[in-house]
Amino acid sequence: MGESLNGLKRTHMCGEFRENNIGEKVTVMGWVQRKRNLGGLVFVDLRDRTGILQIVFGEKIDDEAFKKSDNIKSEYCIAASGVIVKRESPNRGIPTGMVELKGEFIRIFSESETPPIYIKENLDTDENIRLKYRYLDLRRPDMQRIFLLRHKTAKTIRDFLDEEGFIEIETPMLGKSTPEGARDYLVPSRNYNGKFYALPQSPQLYKQLLMVSGFDKYFQIVKCFRDEDLRANRQPEFTQVDMELSFVEQEDVMDVNERLIQRVFKEIAGVDVKLPIKRMPYRTVMERYGSDKPDLRFGMEINDITDAVKGTGFKVFQNAIEKGGSVRAIKVQNSASMSRRQIDKLVQFVKDYGAGGLVWIEYREDGVRSSASKFLTEDDTKKILKKMEAVPGDLILIIADKNKIALESLGALRVHMAQETGILKDNNEFKFVWVTEFPLLSYNEDEKRYQAEHHPFTMPMDEDIKYLDSDPGRVRAKAYDIVLNGEELGGGSIRIHDTKLQEKMFQVIGIKQEEAWEKFGYLLNAFKFGPPPHGGLAYGFDRMVMFLANTDNIKDVIAFPKNQNAFCPLTEAPNVVDKAQLDELGISINGSKNLNKDD
Ligand code: AMO
Repeated sequence: MGESLNGLKRTHMCGEFRENNIGEKVTVMGWVQRKRNLGGLVFVDLRDRTGILQIVFGEKIDDEAFKKSDNIKSEYCIAASGVIVKRESPNRGIPTGMVELKGEFIRIFSESETPPIYIKENLDTDENIRLKYRYLDLRRPDMQRIFLLRHKTAKTIRDFLDEEGFIEIETPMLGKSTPEGARDYLVPSRNYNGKFYALPQSPQLYKQLLMVSGFDKYFQIVKCFRDEDLRANRQPEFTQVDMELSFVEQEDVMDVNERLIQRVFKEIAGVDVKLPIKRMPYRTVMERYGSDKPDLRFGMEINDITDAVKGTGFKVFQNAIEKGGSVRAIKVQNSASMSRRQIDKLVQFVKDYGAGGLVWIEYREDGVRSSASKFLTEDDTKKILKKMEAVPGDLILIIADKNKIALESLGALRVHMAQETGILKDNNEFKFVWVTEFPLLSYNEDEKRYQAEHHPFTMPMDEDIKYLDSDPGRVRAKAYDIVLNGEELGGGSIRIHDTKLQEKMFQVIGIKQEEAWEKFGYLLNAFKFGPPPHGGLAYGFDRMVMFLANTDNIKDVIAFPKNQNAFCPLTEAPNVVDKAQLDELGISINGSKNLNKDD
């Protein structure tokens, strides 16, 4: 049976003690990290979220406490009282290592079975086991540090936005589907059988309504839900720092957010972010980095070598150019001696991105080797090397294809080569960039129509509105992403507040008047009543914390995350429910499909 507190009060946290506490009579509470019995003395390392304190129980000090202490095991939850004394053999490895507690009293609140995972830093245990016993995993000091950091980050953001005049307003979780482009999580309605609420993919339309209400500057740290394929930086439910402002232009939104970023990274990570943050138009980042979220910690930029190879007669190059495509290349330094296997892997890598193939040239001290040596003369190859400003040791990787494929596959290869060659190893820089001037629309080949890239309420750039009819693909949006080290940290836009322009937008993307009203009628209605010019942005808060905590796994920064199959090993959600519950909702299960048989 566990004992109760019975009036016992904790006086200190375990990690607080230093030499100036010597002589104090104290009571601490926590979990037993380990216990050793060395004859007449029992040593207990007691842990709470602030650190570890050594406690010594001895026959001579208090026989009863000594006997009791010898019964405890790892992870028992206990209290101990006594006097802080100087430690005979200090442990300089821990902050409290100069002192120890001479235990005179012990109370055992609860016992513990042997934990299925070690409670220690840098645990290398199967992730599903860690998630199943997440409450124990979260006892580990490195995890506790992350959640303290997450808390402080949220607090810093709240304080900053409060100082800037933003107010935090909650918006519903049970709502109508928002057009963010992912699949919705649906909640069946008991009151209206056959109808469903959608959990918000973001509070997008609510925050625009709040602008109509005159709240002027809104923010919210808010859960969002998206049923999409999961990756290392995606969870089905994640947190956004969401904001919206009235009477602002793109520059105003960027300005307040740059200062927010500067404050957060300084306060939490001690990093100075120089302002203004670099801005690059979408077109430029695609041309140079083959990605709308470029990693600017290294160069290896993509070069257009179409002109240099035009006359070569090499079919692969010629075909691509004739079909309106291009020939692009990157230069990888100190890599001109790849094995056959390594090269094959790279070829497969770009094929996975849709490229037809990969041409490589190794520029070595002892000559040039190339996969296209049969098709390119020595002069052709020299021309390419010159264009690429190559020096011995360089590996040139070339893709000839449609522009989009050539750029995107080289963009991915660029990042892959940076990882492979270790350029980014021990690189602790934070390289921010705003990507601006996104295309407003993209062409959906399957449906043979244009669709909104961001969402249909995004404002086109003034100078491009004239192309909405004649050349919709050319229209750029007042949309911007904040990118950090190759990841999209956040994104936003200025919104359309003009009914005529909104109608035009719906027409261009093939949404009929009735359909628009059926889907977004409540917003369109609100816009009849004097909507202010407005715009905003949302960060992936988990992603921000990932950077600050220096982890590349989003699950590390979420207390109870789902696994890669959107399953919770701890609670075993999702689960089946009683027939009675289903009946109330008017739902019958029509067979079942399990995409993740291994759960
Ligand atoms: P967007 O869809 O770009 O914009 O989302 C904003 C940011 O949220 C993060 N994010 C995610 N993080 C973890 N797991 C996910 N599944 C996930 N999906 C997105 C990203 C992303 O940059 N309403 C607009 C914002 C606006 O226009 O104001 C929106 O939601 O870091």
